[in-house]
Amino acid sequence: MTTTAPRLRDGVTLVVDPPVTAPFLGEIVDLWVRVTNAGGAVGFLPPIDAAMVHPVAEATLRRVAAGVDTFVGLVDGGGHLLAWCVLEDGGGGLRRHWRTVVRVMVDPDRQAAGYGRMLLDAVHDVARDRLGLDALMLQVRGGTGTEEFYRRSGYELVGRLPGAIRLAPGDDRDELVMWRRLGDLAP
Ligand SMILES: CC(C)(COP(=O)(O)OP(=O)(O)OC[C@H]1O[C@@H](n2cnc3c(N)ncnc32)[C@H](O)[C@@H]1OP(=O)(O)O)[C@@H](O)C(=O)NCCC(=O)NCCS
Repeated sequence: MTTTAPRLRDGVTLVVDPPVTAPFLGEIVDLWVRVTNAGGAVGFLPPIDAAMVHPVAEATLRRVAAGVDTFVGLVDGGGHLLAWCVLEDGGGGLRRHWRTVVRVMVDPDRQAAGYGRMLLDAVHDVARDRLGLDALMLQVRGGTGTEEFYRRSGYELVGRLPGAIRLAPGDDRDELVMWRRLGDLAP
């Protein structure tokens, strides 16, 4: 596991590509379930349980363990996972200078306390300094208001796929495409 401390506070530690142990996988699954069941837009619709998330989490971490994608997480002073996301590799080639940020989530009991911004700050440092990237892309479910969270961390809305997300028959949502260049980060 690699740890550094960019703009961290409250005893929080940054973890990048941690070893995928069973307890750590369990924490990821637990957080993913709780975030979804609290209304978060991270790939599932509520209600979900650990059995539904487990195979998806395993597949996610398999790509991380293989060195394809990059896991970025925040662990609190008690050693519990507080927030995490993944920088997904787009397959190299013409797109090797940027990645897609997916599964951005903060523990529902600790949202609105600045940890989301802390996670994005860490993501930006990892993306630029360790991965040598120029930019990041992410997709946001329209109608959630979450694009404002990203806008405040330097992302701009660059596209909209009308009705690209089907929550249920007759309930389509736009997918918002956001982009952040990393060139303006402090050294
Ligand atoms: C979205 C999420 C990651 C934000 O994390 P957070 O820790 O609650 O956010 P922060 O406290 O760091 O907020 C940072 C800033 O963004 C703003 N913000 C956060 N969430 C917002 C939202 N949903 N709508 C508008 N503004 C928001 C905050 O007001 C704060 O603004 P400031 O500049 O005045 O300080 C978190 O709420 C979450 O995990 N949500 C559920 C999962 C999810 O839907 N993820 C998005 C996938 S695209």
